[in-house]
Amino acid sequence: MNLKDKVVIITGAGSGIGRETAKLFGKHGASVIVSDINSTAAQKVAEEILLDDGKAIAQKTDVTDFKEVEELVSGTLEKHNKIDVMVNNAGIGGKNQAKTADHTLDDWHNVIAVNQTGVFYCMKLVLGVMANQGHGTIVNVASLAGLKPSGNNLSYAASKFAVVGMTKSAALEYGRRNIRINAVCPGFTESALLDQLLAVSPEMGDKLKRFIPMGRFGKADEVAEAICWLASDNSKFITGQTLTLDGGNSLM
Ligand SMILES: NC(=O)c1ccc[n+]([C@@H]2O[C@H](COP(=O)([O-])OP(=O)(O)OC[C@H]3O[C@@H](n4cnc5c(N)ncnc54)[C@H](O)[C@@H]3O)[C@@H](O)[C@H]2O)c1
Repeated sequence: MNLKDKVVIITGAGSGIGRETAKLFGKHGASVIVSDINSTAAQKVAEEILLDDGKAIAQKTDVTDFKEVEELVSGTLEKHNKIDVMVNNAGIGGKNQAKTADHTLDDWHNVIAVNQTGVFYCMKLVLGVMANQGHGTIVNVASLAGLKPSGNNLSYAASKFAVVGMTKSAALEYGRRNIRINAVCPGFTESALLDQLLAVSPEMGDKLKRFIPMGRFGKADEVAEAICWLASDNSKFITGQTLTLDGGNSLM
């Protein structure tokens, strides 16, 4: 994969899948903008990349704040004169695992704001830049929950189905501008987000694994590999697609 000197923005890069993705782009020689709402976490990841002889800077961005996303995109363009890749990874799981009638309004608004509106803000702003420069790739981090129904978390399912829809719709619009837009759909992947889900019921982990033919949860670095591949020229005729990484969970 040739990602050397590509300018790459990753949201939610302070932890989990975003962190591993930032580090892998760094290893491949990209200039990584490590963006997260948690500036300390973003700074730490940027330092890890620098220590590994990579190129990175940290930027505090809350993807629900349009002005902050504008600063992220325009600041990157000013510094690097181009944006080759945007990985829209920032996401939250929601606090309440309940059926739809009991789903809280807070959860609905918070999850939709980060997972859906945040991806829209980032795509809207970076696509303007990519259309002007005549190239670019976007990889959105959706979920298996964006491809098949999952109970007790309607806002998360709604937001991830929306990410898949935005990925395909925008890919249709921008193919002729030399811009590819794809999504990864991870199944259960070891991260802070999964820890939060399992904290509600620790025995749930073993139950969930029974529905995964490979018998284990995914790892953040496995998702990172797929994201880097979709962002690279190795996948240069692929657009508007979802790549499922779930150890076979969707087969059950
Ligand atoms: N872990 C899983 O099982 C799993 C499965 C499918 C999809 N995903 C998706 O993968 C993505 C990454 O999740 P993860 O599992 O690595 O979780 P994580 O909690 O480890 O990482 C999420 C990161 O997003 C950041 N973030 C949260 N709100 C933000 C905001 N408003 N603006 C900017 N950054 C914000 C957090 O600070 C954190 O660093 C999410 O979109 C998630 O929905 C995760």
